[in-house]
Amino acid sequence: MIISPSVYSMHYEHFMDELNALNDSVEWIHFDVMDGNFVPNITFGPMILQAFRRNSDRFMDVHLMVTDPDYFTDSFAKAGADGITFHYESYNNIEDCIRLIDKIHSLYLKAGISIKPGTPVETIYPLLDKIDIFLMMSVEPGFGGQSFQEEAYDRIRQLDRYKKEHGLDFIIEVDGGVSDRNAHELLECGCEALVAGSFVFNGDIRANVEKLRRCE
Ligand code: DX5
Ligand code: ZN
Repeated sequence: MIISPSVYSMHYEHFMDELNALNDSVEWIHFDVMDGNFVPNITFGPMILQAFRRNSDRFMDVHLMVTDPDYFTDSFAKAGADGITFHYESYNNIEDCIRLIDKIHSLYLKAGISIKPGTPVETIYPLLDKIDIFLMMSVEPGFGGQSFQEEAYDRIRQLDRYKKEHGLDFIIEVDGGVSDRNAHELLECGCEALVAGSFVFNGDIRANVEKLRRCE
């Protein structure tokens, strides 16, 4: 299981303490990049990722919730991203998505695609043989701390079925409202990577990560 804590929920006044806890306990670190346009909220730019990169060798899992993901890809790649995931809904068009996936690969990074809860899973079937990561949103993107939408289970099962039927090997990651109450079922549905923000950073980080691991 890959655990990818969303640093949206980190306490930045304790940056090094919390980053050390992540370095000790998780595989990936999840960066929610919001531009105040694709979603009604703004988070952080590449300089913040650079500060993580200088102090961590974990996989930097960038999730772009932005109107122009192509523009943001270059600066986050330079800042030290390992994977860049963007939203199908930034383009609503398969050809543009393929163009950006190819560009991310040409930068030697893992490429991911994400869909909002309202976008049918079939929409992105033509992209599934091109990606490394599929990020299923289980909340409407834009804010941390929302409650998990149960419809995500069936959507992940549908995706996992397609993946197996076609012999594909992208990683299924889930994002939004993940906790020790739904992690077991999410893993059973086919998720390999769990993003968790408020659950991990609320209280003792190492202990909360351990709680997620015990859900396997
Ligand atoms: C939502 C973000 C999530 C979010 C997760 O827009 O993509 O990564 O911060 O936070 P929790 O786990 O608190 O729902
Ligand atoms: Zn995210």
